[in-house]
Amino acid sequence: MPNISIIYFSGTGHTTKLAEAAQKGAASVAGVTTRLIVISGEDIVKGRYHNEAVFAELDSSDAIIFGSPTYMGGPAAQFKAFADATGGKWFAGAWRDKLAAGFTISQGASGDKLSTLHYLFTLAMQLGMVWIGLPELPMNDQGINRLSSYSGVMAQAGQESPDIAPNAADKRTAELLGQRVAQYAVKLKK
Ligand SMILES: Cc1cc2nc3c(=O)[nH]c(=O)nc-3n(C[C@H](O)[C@H](O)[C@H](O)COP(=O)(O)O)c2cc1C
Repeated sequence: MPNISIIYFSGTGHTTKLAEAAQKGAASVAGVTTRLIVISGEDIVKGRYHNEAVFAELDSSDAIIFGSPTYMGGPAAQFKAFADATGGKWFAGAWRDKLAAGFTISQGASGDKLSTLHYLFTLAMQLGMVWIGLPELPMNDQGINRLSSYSGVMAQAGQESPDIAPNAADKRTAELLGQRVAQYAVKLKK
């Protein structure tokens, strides 16, 4: 049974909503287990991220979906601290051939979200993972992939409460990415 982990940081709760949606999408695929893992600032000491339990969960995952808000045109510092801590996995080739995907959210329609997705992609490539993109066309009346991002999910939220933003369309987009990753994980396991 493939394990899908969604690991993310969220400062004010918007990225959490996307992470939950991605988990919902993954869990909709029969025969997978899912885990939602939060990157906690408490685990960053003197700029370094440490949490062996989190790494044990990721080691046993078949697919890892990375999520971070876009802060100052890139991933949040807390996500980057986690990413830097994957150096040992890079050296050991421990996450090679696991599936990977990513999502981000920011206030602007662009807001430089693509820089964050490109960073998540580069991280996955350094780790030897296999990237799953988002093929949804934006020409639909539900707003799915309304920001036309094919590398991963882009969503939009500023100062609003996470109960309001990201909107239903952005959450559905994240759900579809989670579902796609889970479908590929099942295919690979066969
Ligand atoms: C430190 C900081 C930097 C930000 N930088 C950007 C940015 O570069 N582009 C943008 O569009 N929004 C930016 N924002 C807005 C956030 O990306 C946006 O509110 C997002 O929904 C926050 O997600 P979160 O609730 O998961 O932390 C920034 C917010 C903060 C706090």
